[in-house]
Amino acid sequence: MHPTARAIAPHYLLLLFATFFFLLRSPSPVAASGDVTLLLDRLKPALQGAAPNAQLATWNASTPLCLWRGLRWSTPAGQPLRCDTAAARANLSLAGDATLLLSSIRLPAAALAGRLPPELGAFPSLESIYLAANSLSGAIPLELGNAPALSELDLAGNALSGALPPSIWNLCDRLAELRLHGNALTGAIPAPAGPNDTCDRLHLIDLGANRFSGSFPAFLTGFRGLQRLDLGGNHLAGDIPEPVATMRGLQMLNLSYNNFSGQLPPGFAGSSFTAESFLGNSPALCGPPLQQPCVSPSGLSSGSVAGMAIGLMAGAVVVASVSIGWAQARWRRNRVRRAAEEGVETEEGGEGDSEGKLVVFQGGEHLTLGEVLNATGQVVEKASYCTVYKAKLADGGGNIELRLLREGSCKDAASCGPAVRRIGRARHENLVPLRAFYQGRRGEKLLVYDYFPHRTLHDLLHGGLESRPALTWPRRHKIALGAARGLAYLHEGRHGDAPLVHGNVRSSNVLVDEYFVARVTEYAVVGRLLVPSAAEAVLSAAKADGYRAPELQTMKRCAPRTDVYAFGILLLELLMGKKPSSAANGGDDLPSLVKAAVLEETTTEVFDPEVAKGVRNPAEEGLVQALKLAMGCCAPVAAARPSMAEVVRQLEENRPKSSRSALYSPAETRSDAGTPLYS
Ligand SMILES: *[C@@H]1O[C@H](CO)[C@@H](O)[C@H](O)[C@H]1NC(C)=O
Ligand SMILES: *[C@@H]1O[C@H](CO)[C@@H](O)[C@H](O)[C@H]1NC(C)=O
Ligand SMILES: *[C@@H]1O[C@H](CO)[C@@H](O)[C@H](O)[C@H]1NC(C)=O
Ligand SMILES: *[C@@H]1O[C@H](CO)[C@@H](O)[C@H](O)[C@H]1NC(C)=O
Ligand SMILES: *[C@@H]1O[C@H](CO)[C@@H](O)[C@H](O)[C@H]1NC(C)=O
Repeated sequence: MHPTARAIAPHYLLLLFATFFFLLRSPSPVAASGDVTLLLDRLKPALQGAAPNAQLATWNASTPLCLWRGLRWSTPAGQPLRCDTAAARANLSLAGDATLLLSSIRLPAAALAGRLPPELGAFPSLESIYLAANSLSGAIPLELGNAPALSELDLAGNALSGALPPSIWNLCDRLAELRLHGNALTGAIPAPAGPNDTCDRLHLIDLGANRFSGSFPAFLTGFRGLQRLDLGGNHLAGDIPEPVATMRGLQMLNLSYNNFSGQLPPGFAGSSFTAESFLGNSPALCGPPLQQPCVSPSGLSSGSVAGMAIGLMAGAVVVASVSIGWAQARWRRNRVRRAAEEGVETEEGGEGDSEGKLVVFQGGEHLTLGEVLNATGQVVEKASYCTVYKAKLADGGGNIELRLLREGSCKDAASCGPAVRRIGRARHENLVPLRAFYQGRRGEKLLVYDYFPHRTLHDLLHGGLESRPALTWPRRHKIALGAARGLAYLHEGRHGDAPLVHGNVRSSNVLVDEYFVARVTEYAVVGRLLVPSAAEAVLSAAKADGYRAPELQTMKRCAPRTDVYAFGILLLELLMGKKPSSAANGGDDLPSLVKAAVLEETTTEVFDPEVAKGVRNPAEEGLVQALKLAMGCCAPVAAARPSMAEVVRQLEENRPKSSRSALYSPAETRSDAGTPLYS
């Protein structure tokens, strides 16, 4: 006997037994009188629980079947029951038709407070169950695994408890989506019992925000059709197995907020998954894409890593030092209500708008209004419409970055709110995350970001810094790719949101850390939070500095492709080492310089000598491709420009050769590239 076959046998027996038991218990008249009767006798009382339910009340014999809420039916021939005629909608005798088959139950957010009955598995043609966002409790019945036709199961956002029955994988050959997010399911995630455990059609599994424990369910890596896997917010522990990194179709992975540990599979280093997939696990989880390096036996001790970090802070530029504490004498901590994720408003003072509001986003839950307002800060940058501070929270709370918007930003909380919330939802390794937003009673607005040592790409390239690291081509490529990934993420428009346009892509809005990881900041602020007159001032600065796409006459028209143009300029800036400018401004119009060089056949001379150094064959090293890509981004006609996603793809495809060596990936950085940037 095959060893795995022996291991699964007990599950099989259990399932057979369950089926047998179920058949014994189901009174045969119910089965004989069809789905309608089964629904009324078994399903309705179970789902409704103790209290009557308005939706379920429509499931009754005095209401024509077509008006029963949340149900779809089909005929024995497999045709959908048509309810689009007045006659059908008034037909009272349909409910007596024992041949009709239930094909779908769709009652999300319908205040169902009961349980899932075992009979849910007994409807022969039931294809989909959508019962998300109710108050269903109790266990997921083992018999659900017998449902012969089920392909969509959505029970997210209920109060289901107990173990996930292994019979769930019996649905594998048809099941396409399994959504159990946000319940109270416990125990290990069971392995499938059947011989066919590849579940080819299953493309989404969401078991996030439950209480599953045990190790990573390794069998999932055999599910060949899986595209989205969410196991976030459970109590899973141990290593993340190697094959997870090489699952071919996987597009979305959330393993955050568990207790995983150990080194991440090396396959994740060059993959499209960012640190966001692995946040909030054991501190012992390490390796790229996480920032946490794995301390190899011969590597640096954690002490020297901390020493390096302290060195970075000491080197931060201090332009001026001011206190930005607006003493909030009557701030009342106990009235503060906070919650995570969507950006929940913390009401202050209780007297309407008298003391302003702090809206916190994911990762900013620990911030309170008092702390933010009483932080002491120093100015690190002054722009036309905002001042940037590095601020220190009291009591060792660490540093934050504050952007104080002056007049000219959105007028009131109502017009700022939705835009700010949208910005606050953006989370990507290559973006500086917005953690909170404060609007004061005099209209002052503070954007609270994570603090990163304020060294911009602009400073690195053009700042004439004394001790700046060599900006070799692999390092510049890494910076370009990081910034491109951050922008592509914004443009992607996740969760049904519209794309978020950056609006002010320029080298001074790209922060670069000591491992040459780029983080884009100030995204969507200009386009979404400034009033038109203030936005136009930013636009004319962008024009003077050569970043403005030719078609962009007013900031209202900024679009993903205008960001692409600005990114093209930024990429030229990286390649040529020259500060961009518009020709009208007396500076170097970078695309024109390249065009002229191509005509004169002096293309190789356009590259910054520092970039060209050590590059023997510019085509093999991806330099020529990057130059072409940058020129494509700067195409005068917007439609001819690539999308940011395409830019990312091309940069990934044409990596500098040396980047494939250990010198390049974030883990490598301690050898060559690890020469601290701000030593
Ligand atoms: C049957 O449904 C109708 C609405 O369609 C409702 O008014 C009536 O109260 C229901 N009867 C029962 C017994 O639930
Ligand atoms: C009402 O439904 C019954 C049962 O399916 C069917 O036999 C009958 O023809 C229908 N009547 C009308 C008017 O559609
Ligand atoms: C497993 O199921 C898929 C359909 O989902 C089928 O194509 C495949 O042949 C099955 N494999 C085995 C070993 O039965
Ligand atoms: C991952 O899951 C955790 C816990 O459910 C959640 O907080 C986080 O937002 C998820 N991340 C993404 C990118 O969806
Ligand atoms: C997480 O796992 C570590 C072992 O890797 C263990 O010591 C620790 O207690 C676990 N934490 C939680 C919250 O379960």
